Amino acid sequence: MAEKFDPAHWERLEDPQRLVELPPAVIAELLDVHGHETVVDFGAGTGAFTIPLAEHLACGLVLAVDESPELLERLRDKLATIDPLLAARIEPVLTEDGHVPLDDGVADRLLTINVAHHVHDEQQALDTMARLLRPGGRLVVIDFGDIDRPIGPPRDHVLPHDRLRELIRGLGVREIAVYEPGELLQHHIAVVAENPADT
Ligand SMILES: C[S@@+](CC[C@H](N)C(=O)[O-])C[C@H]1O[C@@H](n2cnc3c(N)ncnc32)[C@H](O)[C@@H]1O
Repeated sequence: MAEKFDPAHWERLEDPQRLVELPPAVIAELLDVHGHETVVDFGAGTGAFTIPLAEHLACGLVLAVDESPELLERLRDKLATIDPLLAARIEPVLTEDGHVPLDDGVADRLLTINVAHHVHDEQQALDTMARLLRPGGRLVVIDFGDIDRPIGPPRDHVLPHDRLRELIRGLGVREIAVYEPGELLQHHIAVVAENPADT
């Protein structure tokens, strides 16, 4: 079973080098945001990518969903120190016994970074993501690659790429691009998928 992320290690999430390895501009491009979208950052942690993402959303919203009250508290502390107009575009959302208190289809975009290999109840997390993403919405999953890497968890702690892609397809979404480690991001795989639009 996947190992839960220990909130005591929150400082690892705040390492500025992460923004070099996973440039927010690349993430915004994968998400195809134009500025008005509502984006769910699923497993947002301390919001290392939530805040840079909100900078790409002039009049949108980032819903920073996490199961860890400690990590969302860190995010709240950070929000108190940034431009209030930017902070107003970010909403921390704590899951309650695995339930995310947000409406179905709330997300124009759903992003999840380095979460897949930590998820305990895989099915519940997948069902939640499928529920939150609106028809026609876009999903971007980024996780450490199943390769030998100088950073991140040991290789046998991450999902094999085929398994990750199979889980994503299980959401009922259509895969539109897969970037293997080294293609776009050096150490991470990125999968982009779209929820079919209502007919
Ligand atoms: C390694 S951290 C990544 C945090 C953030 N995405 C980042 O890259 O900085 C994994 C995060 O996923 C969260 N998480 C894991 N399973 C979750 C679930 N089922 N629902 C909500 N959050 C979850 C953890 O609490 C943790 O904050």
